[in-house]
Amino acid sequence: MKIGIIGVGKLATAIVAGLTKTNKATEIVLSPRNMENSQLLSNKYECVKVAKDNQAVAEECDWIFLTLPPSVAVREIEQLTFKSGSSVISCVATLSHSECNQLIGNSVNVYKAFPLPTIADCNGPLAYYPCDTKIKPFLDGLGDLFPCKDGKAFRPLAAATSLIASHYAVQNTLHDWLVENDIEPAVALNYLNELMDSLTHQAKKSEVDFRELISSASTSQGLNEQAINMLSERGVCQDIKKTLDTILKQL
Ligand SMILES: NC(=O)c1ccc[n+]([C@@H]2O[C@H](COP(=O)([O-])OP(=O)(O)OC[C@H]3O[C@@H](n4cnc5c(N)ncnc54)[C@H](OP(=O)(O)O)[C@@H]3O)[C@@H](O)[C@H]2O)c1
Repeated sequence: MKIGIIGVGKLATAIVAGLTKTNKATEIVLSPRNMENSQLLSNKYECVKVAKDNQAVAEECDWIFLTLPPSVAVREIEQLTFKSGSSVISCVATLSHSECNQLIGNSVNVYKAFPLPTIADCNGPLAYYPCDTKIKPFLDGLGDLFPCKDGKAFRPLAAATSLIASHYAVQNTLHDWLVENDIEPAVALNYLNELMDSLTHQAKKSEVDFRELISSASTSQGLNEQAINMLSERGVCQDIKKTLDTILKQL
């Protein structure tokens, strides 16, 4: 099976790494832009080649990932003619499934998916829709699949990933604070990674929800209880929800 990718930046680079680990593709065909990334990938992996233009990817591949920047996606997609019977997976965050379908036409199967850079290691959540008998076997092995029945079910999952940078910002604040308190930077980094790892491990293995985890971590009149009360009084959790509401409106 020939798999194409149009728009070869960060996400596409991760998708190529994931695809090569699953041996799904006989060939991976990349759009020439970004030329440096495409060339690097074709030098690194034997099954990767660079097409002469976006149209060449569209007409010769069975499955095509669209990983174009939102600002150019509509303009680019409307110029392309995809092979009849092929399948297109749009990862463009702000382009809805129905818009994409309209631009591409009915002879092609159109899907929305939200892979993350962790797809490079065939890891992490991978939400998609619509669900039919073709898409699941194609995505199997690339991450933890979250099939969604429609856009309403898909969009909040996509929006939730917009807090990845903020999550790292919290980690960064903790790191800076530890260093300001005379902890060696390498020790601080290692400590925080171990802490996050153990908390995720605990959350995954226990069958309780996050509310219960908060409660079990908060000893009465203890430090965790004090910290979460201070943050809640400042509206931190409400601010997070308001931010997500704003992001959701754009998807
Ligand atoms: N990164 C993520 O974690 C993530 C997750 C889910 C969804 N997405 C979606 O995936 C898409 C790509 O994200 P990204 O982070 O990979 O962005 P990115 O690193 O900027 O990659 C986009 C690539 O598209 C290329 N490009 C620009 N105009 C093009 C055109 N007309 N034809 C072909 N290629 C063109 C860019 O080339 P130049 O460098 O030459 O401009 C760049 O290499 C976005 O729509 C984003 O919403 C990203």
